Amino acid sequence: MIGLIGAMAEEITLFRENLDEIEMKTIARMTYRRGMLKGQEVVLLQSGIGKVNATIGTQVMIDHFDIDQIIFTGLAGGLVPNLSQGDMVVANTVTQYDFDLTAFGRRHGELPDIGRTLEADPRLVKLACFAYDDSYKSVPNAPKLLVGSIVSGDRFVSDPRKIEWLQREFGAVATEMEGAAVGYTCFVNDVPFVIIRSISDSADSGAADEFDSFLVRASENSFKMVSSILEVMTYRQEAGEMA
Ligand code: ADE
Repeated sequence: MIGLIGAMAEEITLFRENLDEIEMKTIARMTYRRGMLKGQEVVLLQSGIGKVNATIGTQVMIDHFDIDQIIFTGLAGGLVPNLSQGDMVVANTVTQYDFDLTAFGRRHGELPDIGRTLEADPRLVKLACFAYDDSYKSVPNAPKLLVGSIVSGDRFVSDPRKIEWLQREFGAVATEMEGAAVGYTCFVNDVPFVIIRSISDSADSGAADEFDSFLVRASENSFKMVSSILEVMTYRQEAGEMA
């Protein structure tokens, strides 16, 4: 079964509206909806904002459902000039940029025994790229897709100095508040994961206003991309069954 997680209600509205719900369970104040979406059995969760919420939601989902992969989706602040509002980012690596043991000589974001970055599942990253090509191939002015490093921290970034630091220190292309926590929880449970984000703002001084005004549009792009991934999974399974 596929776990689908988003932080805010607006980020998962379209998923909820399109889900054929079979079962609903509330655990630790979070509601898990099992059902069918685009031919796939999924569990959908709104985790709430931030790394702690994302960690709890991911672990409880893995413990209570038969999860074999997790897709986290939602919005992110773009950190590179070639990303505009609505463009898509698929994380090939994630880092908790605010994990700080520099006092002990470690690098920013470095976890003992783990390192700085965790890799998203290469098969899911590839599938996301394929699904993007499939859904946007004949769409004029389609959003761009970038595969790159996403950094997560418990802070909404709206500061040009922070952007420069995140680029320089981590080579990051986008920042958000959950992806690396989901990645870590998946890593310790041996569950493949991918993070798919739509750019809502430039993480600059106007980021909060940009975020608010683009929340719904950017969430539509995330939904389109994740739906396309599920559709590709479904038609590949059907083609496999027919072969
Ligand atoms: N999610 C969307 N935009 C963001 C930003 N600028 N900082 C952190 N999380 C975000």
